[in-house]
Amino acid sequence: MSTIPRQGKKALEPLRPEKATVVDVIRETHNIKSLRVVFDDEELMTSFTFQPGQVGQLGVMGAGESTFAIASPPSQREYIQFSVMKTGVVTTAIHELAVGDRVTVRAPMGNHFPVDRWQGKNVLVIGGGIGMAPLRSLFLHMMDHREEYGHLQLIYGARTPSDICYRDDCRDWKQCGDVDFITTIDTGNQDWEGRVGLVPAVLEEEEPSPENNIAVTCGPPVMIKFVLESLGKMGFRDEQIYTTLERRMKCGIGLCGRCNVGPRYVCTDGPVFSLKELGELPDEM
Ligand SMILES: Cc1cc2nc3c(=O)[nH]c(=O)nc-3n(C[C@H](O)[C@H](O)[C@H](O)COP(=O)(O)OP(=O)(O)OC[C@H]3O[C@@H](n4cnc5c(N)ncnc54)[C@H](O)[C@@H]3O)c2cc1C
Ligand code: FES
Repeated sequence: MSTIPRQGKKALEPLRPEKATVVDVIRETHNIKSLRVVFDDEELMTSFTFQPGQVGQLGVMGAGESTFAIASPPSQREYIQFSVMKTGVVTTAIHELAVGDRVTVRAPMGNHFPVDRWQGKNVLVIGGGIGMAPLRSLFLHMMDHREEYGHLQLIYGARTPSDICYRDDCRDWKQCGDVDFITTIDTGNQDWEGRVGLVPAVLEEEEPSPENNIAVTCGPPVMIKFVLESLGKMGFRDEQIYTTLERRMKCGIGLCGRCNVGPRYVCTDGPVFSLKELGELPDEM
């Protein structure tokens, strides 16, 4: 069994949910909200560190806890952001939270995008829907360390203009001129001035070179399936492609066996896997 990467001067106890308070709630779309939370223990908040791609368990008293990607970048030391799509019991309770409400957080959990190994490379990030949550953390991290990477390109797809999350970030990425940012929607309307088309089609139109490039994708399974096909057609090798896996989690620390894919656990071996690693696992995607 692999171990959880524990970081920071004061490592979190893996099994102990830490008390935290909601300090901001942002309505992103009709079914996605971002919550910014702060540990009640100031020392813990100060020493909390993580890497892009890691996740946390956000808990609401009386409802339970669920796994969410940390959507803020490691440089954001004032709060931890989770973006939550409303799907069931826990996520509905999370959507009812307001500023000042108390929650529990167990984080950071899981592995992370190997950003140190990507230094000097171009990075192509392809996201859809709520899959943008870990990619937001990744992209903001790479922009914080801009000089360490080559060309940065982000293709972000949503179903309609009103399904686009992170509007402030999108505006900044569009304006900054230092990264290549494309938003596309499946169905256009008269007010939409950006691209229209499914993410894999836009990817093929862009035709990024696989030369010295890493591709990272996260989103709905059907999007990932076709994005992977497109990347393959363009000559990306499996070891150049990364994605994140979702499995229902319970313990989050490799004990209960609930989140396995073959012999690997998403909570401790993942959620980030290269396509090469996934190719060595049973086909349960
Ligand atoms: C590594 C990881 C990262 C995740 N990151 C995010 C994120 O950043 N934002 C976000 O909104 N969600 C994320 N999820 C999914 C999130 O954990 C589930 O949506 C949540 O647990 C649903 O809880 P619920 O009690 O509201 O739903 P339930 O009442 O338990 O179930 C409602 C519906 O959601 C399905 N469901 C429940 N859990 C999962 C799951 N883990 N994966 C897929 N379907 C599930 C159920 O089968 C059911 O159809 C992530 C999951 C994992 C494993
Ligand atoms: S949630 Fe992964 S082993 Fe328990």
